[in-house]
Amino acid sequence: MTPIPVIIDTDTAQDDCITILLGLLDPAADLLAITMVAGNVSFEQQVANAQLTLNVAGMLGQVPVHAGCRRPMLREWVSANDVHGDGSGGLSMDTSVAVLAEEHGVDALLRLTAERPGEVSIVAIGPLTNIATAVVTDREFAGRVKSLYVMGGSNNGRGNITASAEYNFYVDPEAAQIVMAAGFNDLHLITWDPVTLRDATIARADYERLGELGTPLARFFKAMCDATIDYDESVGIDGSTHPDSLTLAVLLHPELVLAEAPYRVDVETASALTRGYSAMAWAKFGLAANAQVVEAVDGGAFFALLEGMLRTVTVPAHPITGLRLG
Ligand code: BDR
Ligand code: CA
Repeated sequence: MTPIPVIIDTDTAQDDCITILLGLLDPAADLLAITMVAGNVSFEQQVANAQLTLNVAGMLGQVPVHAGCRRPMLREWVSANDVHGDGSGGLSMDTSVAVLAEEHGVDALLRLTAERPGEVSIVAIGPLTNIATAVVTDREFAGRVKSLYVMGGSNNGRGNITASAEYNFYVDPEAAQIVMAAGFNDLHLITWDPVTLRDATIARADYERLGELGTPLARFFKAMCDATIDYDESVGIDGSTHPDSLTLAVLLHPELVLAEAPYRVDVETASALTRGYSAMAWAKFGLAANAQVVEAVDGGAFFALLEGMLRTVTVPAHPITGLRLG
């Protein structure tokens, strides 16, 4: 098996951290870079979380972290602090031991895809500001990307930040629409509703069991996800939501996908009421498709993949305050 060269574009909190762990530890992935985008929590906290994640995997310094766009293209930043708390999971480390790449995240996306045209895939699990900025900076960029896997939108279903919009598309709707219209060769969408809510939500009892596997990664998983599962349950969701790690997982293991279909996807940018709404038109409407929308995944196999990863015994090189290692 040849590992898949991939860049993770992330607003690192909660499941974004688990996605980075999967990118580092799954032998199917060759993680080239992590690019950071404004999203879930403060930009500095997101960078700290990415470095913390590399450290808990015992791989700090082995994959570059690039700071990208610190605010959406046109709008003011909207945090998800209500979902993630401060986003730290109560963990911290001495960040002076962690080096942030000098190159801007968008420049890294442009360079890495230019060095290996048609070979590099991108998993975008935050607002699409970095990806859209790369599209408008270099009109050849989209054509150089092998596959783009996006966590965003809902397939004619519920939103999570408003009734009609999923967070990543809501925060930067212009960016999302630019990406949908950019002509990527192989664009896949993993949605909030129904796929995350139905197939990628870990029920409380299973979640607690995973947190007690006894490894530093399992304790890290629980620390980073505790605030979110509490929030999710408070709004009627039955467990811990893992849309971002699912998005990487289906790139690495396409057999997880049970149903997928071509859709014409457009994102609402004009209305205040439905800002960020993803209009997903299926075949009946005869529109030219621009994305493959994942409709169902094998949740059991996905959770088993995460469990196998969390069982890995890693040795962080630097102490993590708040995390018991032994
Ligand atoms: C998305 O928003 C973020 O909070 C999650 O990490 C995920 O990318 C879900 O709407
Ligand atoms: Ca995310």
